[in-house]
Amino acid sequence: MQHTLFLDTDIGATPIDIVHELSFKEWLDVQSDFLIQWLKSNHFHARHGETCLVPDKMGNLEKIIVGFSKSDFWLGGGILRKVPTGSYYLDTIITTNKNIDIKKLRENFCISWCLGSYSFTRYKSRSSEEVSKIFYPEGIDKKNATKLVESSFITRDLINTPTEDLSPSKLADYCKGFAKKYNAEFRTIKGKELIKDNFPAIHAVGRASKNEPYLIEMCKGESNKPKLTLVGKGVCFDSGGLDLKSSSGMRLMKKDMGGAANVIGLANWILGLDLPIRIKVLIPAVENMISSNSFKPGDIITTRKGISVEIGNTDAEGRLILADALAYACEDKPDLLIDCATLTGSARSALGPDIPALFSNSDFLAQELTAHGKEVNDPIWCLPLWKDYLRLIQSKIADINNSGTSSFAGAITAALFLESFVDKNINWIHLDMYCWNNEDRPGRPLGGESQGQRALFDFISNKLC
Ligand code: BES
Ligand code: ZN
Ligand code: ZN
Repeated sequence: MQHTLFLDTDIGATPIDIVHELSFKEWLDVQSDFLIQWLKSNHFHARHGETCLVPDKMGNLEKIIVGFSKSDFWLGGGILRKVPTGSYYLDTIITTNKNIDIKKLRENFCISWCLGSYSFTRYKSRSSEEVSKIFYPEGIDKKNATKLVESSFITRDLINTPTEDLSPSKLADYCKGFAKKYNAEFRTIKGKELIKDNFPAIHAVGRASKNEPYLIEMCKGESNKPKLTLVGKGVCFDSGGLDLKSSSGMRLMKKDMGGAANVIGLANWILGLDLPIRIKVLIPAVENMISSNSFKPGDIITTRKGISVEIGNTDAEGRLILADALAYACEDKPDLLIDCATLTGSARSALGPDIPALFSNSDFLAQELTAHGKEVNDPIWCLPLWKDYLRLIQSKIADINNSGTSSFAGAITAALFLESFVDKNINWIHLDMYCWNNEDRPGRPLGGESQGQRALFDFISNKLC
């Protein structure tokens, strides 16, 4: 899972000039006759994303001209696929528009280029695909950009890896290596130990698989620093359990550990930049499978917090394992508790695949995180923890039901369920995310995707540091 990121030098690299559509005519007037003619022959009008390869007199590629008309985070990711494989650097940016932040444009161009250069080659017998590289401009925070991209690649790799190679124990092995790299504490509680240590819901969901369930815990930093705890849903495969998913519904369910992959990526960024906080990562890791000892519809599980849960549907497994993990997280009284999870299909129906649904017990934090997301082109959208909908997940015979009878407001009832396991005085944020690109787009190749990572990093580094 090794990827080269930015180029170390621009020597020998091909320059890219970016021209604003509205400045194009003026700029063209002072270019060489050859360039004017060449751009004309190629019908180049500097429209957004339009790309022209310019040769020298010998026919060798001399430079690339790109048009643009707005600030677009993904511009670079689009150009990457339009140029011959090679090395590039951003040269001149031509615009008279004072509202365009040139430094940001350069930074974002290179970052989205690099994000778009990702491919998952682990299972390709011939991984021939060479990718174009870009030189990261001087005077801009290269370390941060490198960690941003690396963290996203870690997340994508983990999501793309099939369950057979990323069972709970293999995810734990990965985390062990990760913790070692950053000199972080690492421990796991697995199989029957989960019962002994009072994680009954994690055990119940994961016990049907031959690959036993885990709670993975990593921690780094002194306890006098602001305490951040990240919890990630680590369902390495979600068959739906006995309330089995349809084949199309199951097809992508290797990605049901996307929440875990996202918090590991985020932790990589935070630890890589050595933010002055105490960070803890908790991952309940299970496979939601079928066997004679599967947990069943109608079962009642008494969770770590003492709240009893009637199982309305074994496919609502994510909230069960998170219930124990969130209750455990609160025992340590973090200053900020964030969970990420591919929790409901309902969040996707509401917001589509690109926008994670955000829930928080603090409207203020929710607003702040949303603003940070906007700032770094990583959109998230707040949905309400509408208390009245608790009635939809009431149980006659237990304290709460994990699914309820109505299919209405599924993302909200799932979030309300989680909230029951979070102490009232803890600042808590929950992100319900999709973690997958269903199509290739600039900067975002088809497959596993990191979501909310840039938003969360920006938010955390401003809030806690
Ligand atoms: N992992 C799924 C949710 C999911 C499905 C996320 C597809 C992203 C894409 C989750 O465990 C699940 O199956 N949720 C059910 C809950 C229902 C049974 C109450 C859902 O959302 O339909
Ligand atoms: Zn499920
Ligand atoms: Zn699931």
